[in-house]
Amino acid sequence: MSDVRRLLGFAKPYRLRFGMAIVLMAVVGACEALMALLIKPVFDVVLKPASPASRILLFNWPFDHHPIYLEDFMPHSVHNVWTVMALAIIAVTIVKGSAEFFATYFISYVGHSVVKDLRNLLYTKIIEQSMAFFAQHPTGKLMSSVTSDIEKVQDAVSRVSADFLQESFTLIGLLVVLFYYDWRLAIASLVSVPFVVFPSSTIGRYIRAASRFSQERMADLNHILQETFSGIRIVKAFGMELFETLKFRAANKRLLKVNLRWVRAQAATGPIMELLGAVTIAALLLYARNEIQHQAQTLGGFVGFLYALIKMYEPIKRLTGVNNSFQQAVGASERVFHYLDVRSEIHDRPGAIVLPRFEREIVFENVDFEYDAETAILRGVNLRIRKGEVVAIVGSSGAGKSTLANLIPRFFDVTRGRILMDGHDIRDVSVKSLRAQIGMVTQETILFNDTVFNNIAYGLENQSPQAVENAARAALAHDFIVEMPRGYQTLIGERGQRLSGGQRQRIAIARALLKNPPLLILDEATSELDTESELLVQKALANLMAGRTVLVIAHRLSTVRRADRIVVLDRGTISEVGTHEDLVNRGGIYQRLHELQFVDAEP
Ligand SMILES: Nc1ncnc2c1ncn2[C@@H]1O[C@H](COP(=O)(O)OP(=O)(O)OP(=O)(O)O)[C@@H](O)[C@H]1O
Ligand SMILES: [Mg+2]
Repeated sequence: MSDVRRLLGFAKPYRLRFGMAIVLMAVVGACEALMALLIKPVFDVVLKPASPASRILLFNWPFDHHPIYLEDFMPHSVHNVWTVMALAIIAVTIVKGSAEFFATYFISYVGHSVVKDLRNLLYTKIIEQSMAFFAQHPTGKLMSSVTSDIEKVQDAVSRVSADFLQESFTLIGLLVVLFYYDWRLAIASLVSVPFVVFPSSTIGRYIRAASRFSQERMADLNHILQETFSGIRIVKAFGMELFETLKFRAANKRLLKVNLRWVRAQAATGPIMELLGAVTIAALLLYARNEIQHQAQTLGGFVGFLYALIKMYEPIKRLTGVNNSFQQAVGASERVFHYLDVRSEIHDRPGAIVLPRFEREIVFENVDFEYDAETAILRGVNLRIRKGEVVAIVGSSGAGKSTLANLIPRFFDVTRGRILMDGHDIRDVSVKSLRAQIGMVTQETILFNDTVFNNIAYGLENQSPQAVENAARAALAHDFIVEMPRGYQTLIGERGQRLSGGQRQRIAIARALLKNPPLLILDEATSELDTESELLVQKALANLMAGRTVLVIAHRLSTVRRADRIVVLDRGTISEVGTHEDLVNRGGIYQRLHELQFVDAEP
């Protein structure tokens, strides 16, 4: 329930519109009731011209039985009952229609605005989370929370509350009319309500379950599509087209089956409900014959009663469905609030200082790290990187090289020990000031769906075209950029697929060059580039590394040889440190790695 209150809190800035919507919904309910009241005189007065009445009695005021005539609301010049009636029906419909329009608009305005606010907040919250959070929460889940969970919350705010309020008002109005016409018949009919509602809600549940199955099967299908299209090269290389096609067909057949089940339930609803309605009306008919014969009820009164009763079906149906949507929405908002409440593990300590520009050294002191309590990834790492040094980390795949590098910008915090930068524990300085000093070129190149210019200037404001071009030149990217149709203004995105691996890397290098950080973390790509491209990337990297302190995770011999020191990481611990010449003759892990792994041709 507190979630609901919290959700309502989001609607607070829009309470004026919300309030207006409620008032307008009450007007709609009143109009529905009025329309049902007009039915009686249509039959009893208008359609019976011989009737002595010249005025149309709407109802008697409950306390003093003062009669209220329809003519009381009409211009004096209109006397003919036919005209009065026609005008009244049109007027009520216009009032009702306008009220309905604005009520729907206002309540949707509130719903969509709340959703917009919530989505903004959620996105900000998620993007500020630590890397550990992203490791724990799959991208797909996060995306569905920001889009579809929030959509369901919107349902709660607009559709559910609209349905609930709107239909309640209508129901109340119609109930009043029902009792006004014939209270005994009203009670008798209300007794029959459960007999109508129960089957209807049972079918409703069945339909919802079927539609959920259908969505699940659809998700299976999407999964196959996503997997095979994005991995099309592998599918083709292994000649698996037929296998994947059969898999797809099987999934598609399962989807058809659940869809048909859903269709059957859906199609059965109408006839079943109509049958129940017919039985009710038939029973009422028997009763009414008796009453009308004894003049306890007029024909118009009975038709008006039936009209109101039939009109009640829709609101009752919707109100029984409201709870369900509501529960779904509460579930969705729980998930949304869960994300809103996660406190990022990596955040500034109170009183965190701004890290001064890097001057001396980075020190790892007895650093242990584990992603989860079971498996230690790094154990007792001690490492000192002095300003201006190029330190290469080598080790077999999964040794923990990337993990070690990720600790410096605090993508994760150490489990034990500490990392000092110029004597400051990096957990005592502001995350922003720490990261501002670090440039990263990662194993996989991430480019955004934006222009080349903005990709290079990513995270940096007000960069002059000249500065960006200089960075691109130093990264040996300028030449191929200007050859693109719109040069620096070419949109990457879809086109990014058409950049070669080496070109993508050089754009990433230009990005790091423009940022010009004192400290550089390089996680060399393991993917093979052709020799020419490789050479260009190597040159670009050399330009980037010049005059900086560099921690490079090296897969290439050329990089390793250029390093001042090589650190060999083996299953989370440092096993050897030294220069290439030292290590290659030591007969340890490095020598083995050297023979196995650093395959690139000796220059
Ligand atoms: N987010 C994570 N959550 C849990 N375990 C992880 C996570 N990231 C990496 N690991 C595990 O930590 C270990 C070290 O991974 P890391 O990425 O540091 O290896 P690496 O030395 O960089 O390997 P490679 O040369 O293949 O890039 C691996 O066993 C990996 O499975
Ligand atoms: Mg790695």
